[in-house]
Amino acid sequence: MKKINLRHPLLLLAGLGITAATLFSCNNQSTKTEETSTTTSTTETDSNMSIQKESFGKTKDGTELQLYTLRNENGMQVKITNYGGIVTSILTPDKNGKPGDVVLGFDKGEGYTSDAYLKSGPYFGALVGRYGNRIAKGKFTLDGKEYTLAKNNGENHLHGGVKGFDKVVWQTEEVPGQQALKLTYVSKDGEEGYPGTLTTEVTYTLTPDNQLRIDYIATTDKATPINLTNHSYFNLGAGQSPDALGHVLTINADRYTVVDASLIPTGELRPVKGTVMDFMQPTAIGTRIAQVEGGGYDHNYVLNNGDGSMKLAATVYEPTSGRYMEVMTTEPGVQFYSGNFLNGSLTGKGDIAYKKHYGFCLETQHFPDSPNQAKFPSTILKPGETYHTTSVYTFGVRK
Ligand code: GLA
Repeated sequence: MKKINLRHPLLLLAGLGITAATLFSCNNQSTKTEETSTTTSTTETDSNMSIQKESFGKTKDGTELQLYTLRNENGMQVKITNYGGIVTSILTPDKNGKPGDVVLGFDKGEGYTSDAYLKSGPYFGALVGRYGNRIAKGKFTLDGKEYTLAKNNGENHLHGGVKGFDKVVWQTEEVPGQQALKLTYVSKDGEEGYPGTLTTEVTYTLTPDNQLRIDYIATTDKATPINLTNHSYFNLGAGQSPDALGHVLTINADRYTVVDASLIPTGELRPVKGTVMDFMQPTAIGTRIAQVEGGGYDHNYVLNNGDGSMKLAATVYEPTSGRYMEVMTTEPGVQFYSGNFLNGSLTGKGDIAYKKHYGFCLETQHFPDSPNQAKFPSTILKPGETYHTTSVYTFGVRK
């Protein structure tokens, strides 16, 4: 969980036959100064680089929400709100240099706080915690004591409970000298049933190399399960693809965790080879999706070389736009979710109705239900330890 060994992703891209030339050109980073206003403001450091902060509406109890924009000089732009640490937009050029928004979400804060959104529960772009994915029957035993968590997914606990980290307001701080935003949230002892006061810091960094890097750091005063992730839904067609089924996906995993009907792992790690789960070779998401039980992919893949070092999790290519994304992580797993529960009831940016399979998620994580699975890598954080995981999303094009 804590060991980080960052290799330069461009080396990896080269290994995959993608050259640096296919990424957008790079430029220098700049520094920025502290902001002073709560309305739209821009902190300039040089003529080109800035972090913009603007109002993003209010929560139902009247808390002001903000939206921050990170940019680099290649035309990439990432918007993040302090509500749920949600990434609301990632703008990145296509093969013709035309920018497009490659994640699902809303232009206004109200989109994320509306009753319709909460009922539907897609977790667009959100920081998910304390525990990404499911804990069976909302129960686990730690140091001889049984804990009962909020149940918000049938009889199971999902994505941190009724009010997980995706629905709280985070404190924000700009990181000097980088296009980076640090978000902090202190989760109280007993929140959603979890033990210990947990302090979490998540830093989003947009690099000059078109990487969105997410660092997750946490400490606790009592032993607790923790499994943090980001729940962005991607569609690299940026509004030009009817759904995400034509995206060509590779997942660096020989095995996946088999689940029961309520999507709780049985404990078995099953080889993907020769099955509809196999994405070891580049394969369009839609090729075999009709054969997958449960309406599509919603599975945790066991990443190869999942020893805590930074490694390739997945690559995705969208042929029409030429956009390409690579996901690297220190985590041992990735949840590939093909947007099976989207049903067209939510309309997002650009008036697009988000129907089934319109977007897909690659949630880097530890395995679901690990607190009840002794053979899975541990997700228990103890007092005195520091949780630190990193995931990096690199964007580029193939011409
Ligand atoms: C994860 C889960 C899915 C679903 C989505 C959110 O990917 O595995 O079953 O809950 O989050 O809708």
